[in-house]
Amino acid sequence: MLEKPVTVITGAAGGIGLACAVHLHGLGHQLVLVDLNQSHLEKAAQSAGLDAGHTLLVAADVSREEDVQGYVHAAIERFGRIDGFVNNAGIEGTPALIEEQSVEVLDRVYAVNVRGVFLGLRHVLPVMRAQGAGAVVNLSSLAGIMGAPTQGVYVMSKHAVIGLTRTAAVEAASGGVRVNAVLPGTINTEMMRRIERDSGNGAAAESANRAATPLGRYGEPKEIAAVVAFLISPEASYVTGSLYTADGGMSPF
Ligand SMILES: NC(=O)c1ccc[n+]([C@@H]2O[C@H](COP(=O)([O-])OP(=O)(O)OC[C@H]3O[C@@H](n4cnc5c(N)ncnc54)[C@H](O)[C@@H]3O)[C@@H](O)[C@H]2O)c1
Repeated sequence: MLEKPVTVITGAAGGIGLACAVHLHGLGHQLVLVDLNQSHLEKAAQSAGLDAGHTLLVAADVSREEDVQGYVHAAIERFGRIDGFVNNAGIEGTPALIEEQSVEVLDRVYAVNVRGVFLGLRHVLPVMRAQGAGAVVNLSSLAGIMGAPTQGVYVMSKHAVIGLTRTAAVEAASGGVRVNAVLPGTINTEMMRRIERDSGNGAAAESANRAATPLGRYGEPKEIAAVVAFLISPEASYVTGSLYTADGGMSPF
């Protein structure tokens, strides 16, 4: 990788995305930060102390193909290449038993978590292939390898991210491009706060999550960022198509 690699991060105004930005910025990456709302991106970048000279902020909805083309185009126009891609934007949807879940929730979660990840790969991989190098990290979840009551739609979407990761890895390997997935457990972000609130008893949900985690606590976004940074880096040069759980020991595999 070059001395100042260029990395695109989607969902970069949120907990894990912003932590990835901070970590990679500290390692000297030039960043393209993508999220739905420009002013949220500006606030996030400012609060994290990201250097405006090496950071491009792009408002885009990852579920819309023209927006995805837009952030890829903006990255190339500004920096001329894309070395790393953190395909991170995601939503949890509204919890419900399968028989009570609405098709609208299914479609929205799929639009962001599956179509958004697919479109990111569809438009970033050709850039990396043309460079003959690049590394992608897709954000799946423990929900990508386990079932979870009332989370069926989210679980399906995160299983799909694993299928995409494995396929992209074998398709892109000959082009010098690596593709891996990170599977976080319960991480301290706004998404986790919403999941706790939606459960109807936030305190009970939090203590159940802690009890189910051998390390006895939630993970911090920076602990996911560290795994992402490793997978993006040349240190992981022989790692592709892999699933990295970062879950405090929660998964029994
Ligand atoms: N927090 C956890 O415990 C946890 C666990 C496993 C996996 N994950 C995954 O990690 C990723 C990041 O989660 P987080 O906890 O940081 O969530 P978060 O809600 O804090 O941040 C998600 C960000 O994605 C953005 N986003 C949502 N829809 C978008 C769209 N259509 N286009 C562009 N941006 C969009 C949001 O605006 C937000 O800034 C998600 O894919 C999530 O499913 C999180």
